[in-house]
Amino acid sequence: MPGTRLRQATGKTIAAVGAPHAARAGIVRFYDCLTGGASFLDDCVRGLSLPRKSLAPKYFYDEIGSQLFEEICDLPEYYPTRTEMAIMEANAAEIARLIGPDVELIELGSGASVKTRLVIGHARPALYVPIDIAEGQLRSASDALAAHFPWLNICAVRADFARPLRLPSFIGAPVKLKVVYFPGSTIGNFTPAESIALLRGVRDMAGTGARLLIGVDLKKDKRTLEAAYDDAQGVTARFNLNLLARINRELRGDFQLSRFRHKAFYDEDLGRIEMHLESRCAQFAHVAGRRFDFAPGETIHTEISCKYTVEEFQALARRARFEPQRVWTDPDGLFSVHLLIAI
Ligand SMILES: C[S@@+](CC[C@H](N)C(=O)[O-])C[C@H]1O[C@@H](n2cnc3c(N)ncnc32)[C@H](O)[C@@H]1O
Repeated sequence: MPGTRLRQATGKTIAAVGAPHAARAGIVRFYDCLTGGASFLDDCVRGLSLPRKSLAPKYFYDEIGSQLFEEICDLPEYYPTRTEMAIMEANAAEIARLIGPDVELIELGSGASVKTRLVIGHARPALYVPIDIAEGQLRSASDALAAHFPWLNICAVRADFARPLRLPSFIGAPVKLKVVYFPGSTIGNFTPAESIALLRGVRDMAGTGARLLIGVDLKKDKRTLEAAYDDAQGVTARFNLNLLARINRELRGDFQLSRFRHKAFYDEDLGRIEMHLESRCAQFAHVAGRRFDFAPGETIHTEISCKYTVEEFQALARRARFEPQRVWTDPDGLFSVHLLIAI
């Protein structure tokens, strides 16, 4: 994005991406790089006009969606968060030793930055660059981290990491190496082909020798997987339906949420969970003045969550020019955390 103008926390427009920006400890600098590309409205209209209607999962994360995701993380059925956290707790010292100090820690889809505290506390990076599409949570998580680690330089970037990303160059922090942290198995929201393209972009952005520390959910029995995406309390259903509520709030939509139901299933052939919103009846809804018709049982596809074996993910990463260095799993083999080197 050469020439893109950036906006700081103050709202003041600062220099273009190519110019260096001073990073200072204890201060959160905020950069809005969510410019260009299709808007929420464009993507909605396009997705709802397809023969198989779909909406991109990145739109789940408005303020309410981010909050609901945090509730999902605490659900008894949702094993990924607590399992990944346990892997990180057990291995944070070794991870820190392998990546070393004085790194630029770039986190993709940082959300509440909870697991990141372990990495920061042990590795003491020179600079932390959380990247997320959800502005409110990005700001609050960054402020909380700055309070917890007053010595840390934080440059928070609001951006869509699935688009070509050129980060501002930050100065003032003695950075030896870039480490990209991508937890939460968010990579699973992309097909294997999309994941390779995304990781190639990450590799090019971070450069040869950079490290990738990534959380990847593992293949397991269908029952455990389906329960994780369709919990008994209905929190995941509310998270999914919030997408329609968000369209109603932001895009002059008139979806009647009670006429849709949350559906999640594991496709064993594709090795992925699919989440849909299924129309309970024949109906139509409007988005910004456009009408969309739904047959009974027709769905809007809202998310995939691909699952891998350790070997499958390593093969995928190699195709993006990342060489596996180390992998950690939990005793039950539910989840994996990989450390890879960009070659
Ligand atoms: C599954 S949550 C994971 C949150 C956190 N990293 C964790 O491990 O619990 C996905 C996060 O990625 C963000 N996100 C999703 N798609 C994104 C995109 N295309 N660009 C930037 N952020 C995105 C969401 O806002 C959310 O914070």
